[in-house]
Amino acid sequence: MLKVTIPGTVRYLLVLFTILLVLLSVSCSGKDEIIAEQDEVVLMEGNPSSACLVCHIEETPGIVTSYGRSTHIKNNVGCLDCHQVHENDPTGFEHNGFEVTAIPSPMYCQECHPNEVAQNSNSKHAWTAFIGQYKPYYAEARNLGLDPLAQETAKLLDPDEMAKRLLSPLIADSGILQKIGLLDDPEYNHANVTVGCGTCHGTFVIAEDDGTITGMPNAGVGRVNADGSLGSCTSCHTRHEFSIAEARKPETCGQCHLGPDHPQIEIYEESKHGNIYGSMGEEWNWDSKEWGADDIGAPTCATCHMSAFGGAVEATHNVGDRLYWELQPKTSVPQWKGPDEVDLVLERIPDPEAAAEGRTKMMAVCTECHSTTWAEGHFSELDKVVADYNKVWEYTDGLLEDAYKKGLISKDNPIDETAEIYHYLVWHHSGRRWRMGASMMGPDYAHWNGAVDTIMINLGAMINDLELREAVLK
Ligand code: HEC
Ligand code: HEC
Ligand code: HEC
Ligand code: HEC
Ligand code: HEC
Ligand code: HEC
Ligand code: HEC
Ligand code: HEC
Repeated sequence: MLKVTIPGTVRYLLVLFTILLVLLSVSCSGKDEIIAEQDEVVLMEGNPSSACLVCHIEETPGIVTSYGRSTHIKNNVGCLDCHQVHENDPTGFEHNGFEVTAIPSPMYCQECHPNEVAQNSNSKHAWTAFIGQYKPYYAEARNLGLDPLAQETAKLLDPDEMAKRLLSPLIADSGILQKIGLLDDPEYNHANVTVGCGTCHGTFVIAEDDGTITGMPNAGVGRVNADGSLGSCTSCHTRHEFSIAEARKPETCGQCHLGPDHPQIEIYEESKHGNIYGSMGEEWNWDSKEWGADDIGAPTCATCHMSAFGGAVEATHNVGDRLYWELQPKTSVPQWKGPDEVDLVLERIPDPEAAAEGRTKMMAVCTECHSTTWAEGHFSELDKVVADYNKVWEYTDGLLEDAYKKGLISKDNPIDETAEIYHYLVWHHSGRRWRMGASMMGPDYAHWNGAVDTIMINLGAMINDLELREAVLK
């Protein structure tokens, strides 16, 4: 039996070393249980997951070593605590005398982390596969009176195939694919819908009748799990370390929050906050339970959107909780009501009261480091930018409707003509950058990549195209 007290820095090495040592003694003595007692326990005597460790240190050493670095092992949480399959989960299989799943959904974390699971389930993150590429499937299921989360419904309607063959600005490349005859071509896989949308938004995990599982591997934030739950905790806490330090760093969010339509990580890198993180972040304290202004010198994504941050607000796994605006839709409005109140996928009802509370919570984070005047100054400029964008959008949208009425372009394919494409870009790409740049202190995204691309490039090209068409028709 091991009895050692270790200082923090060598703890990690020791845990690994201890696993190896203990495994060695297990294989020598032929016992099927790991026995180790010390301040940093490996797994307590009698924990049935010791059996998993014995094989998996050989079979998948990467998994066992990251598990060895986790808080879980220190708290005697074993492989089976997460992998022993639940009754209502069709992904289970018999495995060396145990019934396990390879895809523990948030339901497997719920018993020990009920608050995080509840908040996450109530966030747009959890619902985002349905808000995203599976929206037409979701609407059709509801139409037919079926449960969109059920395995049977998915097997009947095939959500991926529906997304791949849909003609709509929701699937931006569908208009041109239709025009060139590939959208309905069964030989054209349109596989970017699965590896693109699905990797960020999440896939539908389906346990087929023959035991195979489709929709995996995947760690999209809105993954639809086979037990009917939504989300994947591993999108931010990669298995098997399940670390808060990792989730607090901006790179974790930047995996999905990047690119021409939602460049939050690029905006962050450009901001003063991101610069301070880049130059000083290595020295900060990422593991502290009560994370606050004494641990870090500038906020990360998690600080502003999720952490309790010095007790200024309550920590939340609902990332919409501190927002005022919906900055992604065509017209910005106060935050919509959440999935606990409405069918979020199909109903968009702004909730100005909840949005105002969100603003108050966000301000409470800012004022841990700034004065109220400083923070208010920022938000007052942001609100002006949102108002400006809304005005430009109203004009752009009116212009398109006008062009349809005048017969300059046709409505039957909604996203193939030049004016339609630029109309899309005004909203979906540059118009978002404009608003998001202003939200998170990215001046280049607010101005050059934002307002200028929107007004001069996209709207400008749309106007010129329509004027030319009108002149030619005359
Ligand atoms: C007798 C050795 C042995 C034992 C005991 C064992 N495993 Fe495995 N396990 C394996 C092997 C071998 C694989 C396949 C690895 C591969 O595909 O490379 C595997 C695969 C898995 C997979 C992935 C399956 C998939 O389809 O992706 C999971 C999950 C898993 N084991 C969990 C467990 C858990 C939890 C325990 C303890 C209850 C356990 N294992 C005990 C040998 C074992
Ligand atoms: C705290 C919960 C938790 C613990 C403890 C845990 N796992 Fe996992 N495991 C998960 C989750 C979550 C996934 C990934 C599912 C996903 O991608 O969302 C996973 C995935 C896996 C996979 C499949 C991954 C792959 O790349 O093929 C294997 C194998 C596995 N775990 C084995 C183990 C073994 C062995 C142990 C014990 C040493 C263990 N797990 C401990 C939660 C856990
Ligand atoms: C059997 C109970 C149990 C299960 C199941 C469980 N956890 Fe934990 N988890 C714990 C305990 C205990 C801690 C340590 C709590 C503490 O230090 O206050 C912890 C800590 C954590 C932490 C914080 C780690 C850190 O760096 O401080 C994360 C993140 C986490 N768990 C995620 C998960 C996820 C995701 C799942 C499901 C895949 C899961 N847990 C399943 C018991 C569990
Ligand atoms: C690189 C990751 C990534 C890919 C790929 C991706 N998205 Fe997204 N999507 C996001 C993020 C992040 C947001 C959140 C933007 C925001 O709120 O600022 C988002 C927002 C959305 C929204 C707006 C949601 C709302 O609440 O109004 C829709 C709809 C959407 N995506 C659909 C899709 C579809 C359909 C695809 C594939 C054709 C796709 N996305 C591909 C990451 C991605
Ligand atoms: C969008 C990214 C993200 C997702 C998805 C996510 N987490 Fe977290 N989680 C975080 C961040 C960031 C923190 C650290 C918050 C802080 O600073 O207090 C955290 C902290 C935690 C903690 C530690 C809480 C504490 O008080 O010490 C637990 C436990 C946890 N998460 C569990 C989960 C579970 C379970 C899920 C899935 C239902 C999940 N997380 C999904 C980002 C995420
Ligand atoms: C200094 C605090 C702060 C930091 C750091 C920060 N944000 Fe934000 N974020 C905000 C504010 C403020 C808003 C706008 C709030 C409002 O609507 O009033 C916002 C808005 C958003 C939105 C909503 C856009 C929409 O479509 O409605 C997303 C998504 C987002 N942030 C993600 C991120 C990501 C990812 C990171 C890190 C790469 C990050 N944020 C870093 C404060 C921050
Ligand atoms: C695996 C991909 C992924 C990761 C990782 C991820 N997000 Fe998201 N996030 C999304 C998608 C997709 C959406 C769009 C949700 C919607 O509106 O449908 C989104 C939306 C958001 C929103 C807007 C929520 C709202 O209610 O309008 C915020 C804020 C946000 N994420 C913050 C974060 C932060 C902070 C992190 C890191 C701690 C993070 N995200 C990590 C994919 C991701
Ligand atoms: C952890 C501390 C911290 C938090 C929390 C924080 N900031 Fe900052 N912020 C800083 C520091 C440090 C600077 C650099 C100040 C300087 O340049 O003198 C800064 C700079 C700024 C700047 C100036 C940017 C520039 O380019 O000059 C603005 C605007 C700003 N913050 C707004 C906010 C807002 C709004 C919030 C809340 C949504 C917030 N900050 C949250 C620490 C913080």
